[in-house]
Amino acid sequence: MLLAFISDIHGNLEALEAVMNDIKERKVDKIYCLGDLVGYGPNPEEVVRKLIGIPTIAGNYDDGVGYSKSSCGCQYNPGRETEVGDISLNWTIENTSEEIKAHLRSLKHRMEFELEGVKFLLVHGSPLNELLEYVTPQTNQERLLKITENVKADVIINGHTHLPMAKFVNGKLILNAGSVGRPKDKDPRSCYLLLNVEKGVVSYEFIRVPYDVKTTCEKMALYGLPAELAVVLALGSSYNMGKVDSGKQFFVV
Ligand SMILES: [Fe+2]
Repeated sequence: MLLAFISDIHGNLEALEAVMNDIKERKVDKIYCLGDLVGYGPNPEEVVRKLIGIPTIAGNYDDGVGYSKSSCGCQYNPGRETEVGDISLNWTIENTSEEIKAHLRSLKHRMEFELEGVKFLLVHGSPLNELLEYVTPQTNQERLLKITENVKADVIINGHTHLPMAKFVNGKLILNAGSVGRPKDKDPRSCYLLLNVEKGVVSYEFIRVPYDVKTTCEKMALYGLPAELAVVLALGSSYNMGKVDSGKQFFVV
């Protein structure tokens, strides 16, 4: 059984289409989506419509847009980064229909299933804070033990950081699917997770797919979205958008 896990599409239709074509060619049996369908990118409405019918959990941005919140809960640096984040959230709220917002509100915050005796748990962030916690390569062992201690699943699959990751903690495999529409690991190509379960044995691979970044960036310019959002797509990485008062860098996802 071949499964594909996609996450953090963030309104990037070109990236989503490229990934869906790649998935189709690989004859995947089932696709799951780990949230953050909207935000930052120029095609939130179209991305959500394209994913209807695919088992999907909510990300923090889906929650923020679905409920028209004033914050997506992201850890922005003070200054321009916060400004860009606010513009992005407000633009996305203004450019999604009530029908799409209702769909985003209907998404569950976690999903569990079992395949050939292997138990899976899907969350956008972490099992303890489903929408907001960043589980990164830097997350310390103590915290990793804490977030996995009451998890019954063998495999935890998440997103939110935009950084593909595999870690084995507490007898459980944690896999981060990376980001389809806004990668942050210095590789601008879309990323998704391909996972095979055969006779109860799990194997996985991170797939990178090039897409038409220029078209997405042109749309952002056309719609008046901040140029900083396009730069992140072109770099495949966040960057210092201005003075950081605290001197501390956060993940901007
Ligand atoms: Fe995200």
